Amino acid sequence: MTKYFVYLSGEQTSVGKAEVNALAGLLEIDVSVRWDGRMGLIESKKNPVPFFLERAALVKEAGIVFSEIDVQGDLLGNLPDDLLTNTIRPEETFSVRTMSENGMFSVKERLDLEANLGARIKQATGAKVNLENPQVRILVVFTQGSIRVCKSIASKLRPMLRDREPGRKPFFHPSMMNASLARVMCNLAGVMPGEVVLDPFCGGGGILCEASLIGAKSIGIDLNWRLLMGSKKNLDSTGSDYSVIQGDIRSLSVHECDCIVTDPPYGRASSTRGAQAIELVESLFERADSILRRRKESICVCGSSEMNIQNLAESMGLMVNQVLQIKVHSGLVRELLTLGF
Ligand SMILES: C[S@@+](CC[C@H](N)C(=O)[O-])C[C@H]1O[C@@H](n2cnc3c(N)ncnc32)[C@H](O)[C@@H]1O
Repeated sequence: MTKYFVYLSGEQTSVGKAEVNALAGLLEIDVSVRWDGRMGLIESKKNPVPFFLERAALVKEAGIVFSEIDVQGDLLGNLPDDLLTNTIRPEETFSVRTMSENGMFSVKERLDLEANLGARIKQATGAKVNLENPQVRILVVFTQGSIRVCKSIASKLRPMLRDREPGRKPFFHPSMMNASLARVMCNLAGVMPGEVVLDPFCGGGGILCEASLIGAKSIGIDLNWRLLMGSKKNLDSTGSDYSVIQGDIRSLSVHECDCIVTDPPYGRASSTRGAQAIELVESLFERADSILRRRKESICVCGSSEMNIQNLAESMGLMVNQVLQIKVHSGLVRELLTLGF
């Protein structure tokens, strides 16, 4: 069975692992992910790499592991020529990079290894080195126990997410959720194309834009007319189906949704018109049963730890699947919860 890998970006590693694990659960094939540091190892009969690269915000690169040896082993001595010729064709260009998570190698040692492995590949395959824009990217990952030589593809989604940050959207408001976190939340809730996603506090539509770009149908509710008009502008730019409603989740009824992905207001009375944020969440949880047609892990909420959403959810009979800490700007920590019935 081929061994595939995903490699997480350095930020929010535990959230990155949860995102990949959630996405693995959405694949039609049965896969499990084993973690070795920031590297997720996946044994599968079918290639899951395109799906992870297309969906995951916190996966930096992914691909195939074609050689694995013990960390003390001889890397170059364990790479037979036929393994290299099967991986890189003579007419292709390639680059070699190393990532060390075990602190065993200095920068100079890694640069030497990249040069030596590059020379070895060139000699075995006849392929040319191109560090700027290679057709094949060879990545060597050193973890605590292993050295893995991989054929890797860089995420194209991550630069696109940077281009979709709130300040670069057609409409901007400081309360908007950033694109990367919005994408992670949609993935934790298991949003799939064609599903209906509700954000009952949708503001300028940061979360709903990502849900729409995954291919879901978005429904947004917000009290604030100006923000709601902004969310329309932002959602129009995604080119997908959506519907936004001005109102208060405490007095509206919405049904037949597959997921709720939301970040309620964080207790600032100005944005809630006097209501306590936690009361709004309580009211949402009361209605969740009638809103949702999908039951398992269908809710992802981002809140401040003072709101203690976990306690509230458990006391109301919801199943709390995960609680993850995330660092937001200026040292602020928030909680990401996935919930279901
Ligand atoms: C943190 S912002 C939401 C950001 C948004 N989820 C995004 O993805 O960009 C919270 C929003 O809740 C809205 N809000 C506050 N009280 C509300 C209520 N009772 N019903 C609906 N929306 C409300 C505010 O107007 C504000 O836009």
